[in-house]
Amino acid sequence: MENSISAIVLGAGLGKRMKTNKPKVMCEVLFKPMIGWVVDALEKAGVNDICVVSAADDTMVRDYLHERVYFAQQKERLGTGHAVMCAKEFLQKTESENILVVCGDAPFLDEATVRKALVVHTQQNAALTVVSAFLENPTGYGRCVEENGKLIKIVEERDASEPERAICFVNSGILLFQKAALLQVLEQFTCNNAQQEYYLTQAVELLNQAGQTVCACQSGNPDVVLGANDKPALYALNEKARAAVLRRHMEEGVEFVNLDGIVIGPDVQIAPDACILPGCILKGHTKIGAGALIGPNSELTDAIIEEGAVIRQSVVSESKVCQGARIGPFSQIRPNCIIGKNVKIGDFVEVKNSTLGEKTSVAHLTYIGDSDVGEHVNFGCGCVTVNYDGVQKYRTTIGSHSFIGCNTNLVAPVIVGEGAYTAAGTTITKDVPPGALAIGRVKQENKSEWARLKLTSKKK
Ligand code: UD1
Ligand code: CA
Repeated sequence: MENSISAIVLGAGLGKRMKTNKPKVMCEVLFKPMIGWVVDALEKAGVNDICVVSAADDTMVRDYLHERVYFAQQKERLGTGHAVMCAKEFLQKTESENILVVCGDAPFLDEATVRKALVVHTQQNAALTVVSAFLENPTGYGRCVEENGKLIKIVEERDASEPERAICFVNSGILLFQKAALLQVLEQFTCNNAQQEYYLTQAVELLNQAGQTVCACQSGNPDVVLGANDKPALYALNEKARAAVLRRHMEEGVEFVNLDGIVIGPDVQIAPDACILPGCILKGHTKIGAGALIGPNSELTDAIIEEGAVIRQSVVSESKVCQGARIGPFSQIRPNCIIGKNVKIGDFVEVKNSTLGEKTSVAHLTYIGDSDVGEHVNFGCGCVTVNYDGVQKYRTTIGSHSFIGCNTNLVAPVIVGEGAYTAAGTTITKDVPPGALAIGRVKQENKSEWARLKLTSKKK
């Protein structure tokens, strides 16, 4: 399909009905902006020449999609037809014969629908193919008006007559044009409608009047029409997508004891025999290996969790947890960590921008930031890598087989050699040679009879 279709994604809507400050198409379904779903589906269908129409002052959509698509700006929001006019430069430049126009606020566009539309479009040699769907409740959508089995026009709800409103065939917002036909109708749009906008859907009437072929192609997947103009509709999309994603994982062999509070993003991969317990939120491109146990109540974002790892009541972001490692309860792995094989991280531990070697153990109440820690290191309770002096961050290096006593502060930059020990309560400010014991604390002194003397002096 690569060269025969280019796409225009309409994304300049304001989100007024959504009551949000973001562009509407940046509202998320399963933690992924709706426009991200649409662009992913297009790319999956082999459509790589994509132009997104965004509002002139919008930087969010641009930052989100930056190098993947071209952009056109719509300075005034004058309707879907006007939005396509704003992409005229892209239209003239692209070499594809056909232009697919889709809405950025209808995330369930799928590859099969795009392919089916192209087949119908080509077979019928149509100037325009409208993807339609049958909805039991068509409220809010443009209705496809047919005469003798032929699509003659699309009317928006606000402009529809009573009998037209009863029509359950709706415009999905997915329109496939011959490029020449689209360029022709762009010059002819008017705004004689309830909203005084340039409607892209007017193309149906205009092309029919010009004697060109317009056909409707019913999508095999009625969900492709579903869009969200407000928060209740956005919630409905989330619930629908959530159920579909969970079902897919179950079918692929992932184990769920109960689904309460489990929300999994569409791009998360989970191997068979992993088990996800209630209350887990798995986002982004998180990948979970076979036999891993996640939850309850854990949040994973762009995390790689290898086979057999266990994450209990914890948060892992943009980090890798290797085979057999155990984390939690109540710990946080912040971005850019590699937690080695069979590492044990217990409760109230925070790790950031650090690597921990195989079998290292950090059992309780510890902060490890900007550190390279070897294998088989044991951290006592309450250790801190002091990585920040208020201006800069510094690294700590800890050799394998070393033993960091309880309540050690390691003031970075500092190196603890292999097999070294630090005494409990020590503040390390100088490098420790391999195999040495570092002790840095005031020697204990016992003042005998001190308590009794203090109390008797008070009585006098
Ligand atoms: C539109 C269709 C309707 C269809 C429905 C499917 C028209 C006139 N109506 O209605 O037939 O059933 O989609 O979801 O085409 N946008 C812009 N610039 C604008 C206006 C809109 O970029 O000036 C974008 C929006 O961000 C959105 C898309 O176009 O992504 C659709 O606009 P929206 O206002 O949501 O149209 P609907 O009323 O849903
Ligand atoms: Ca819409």
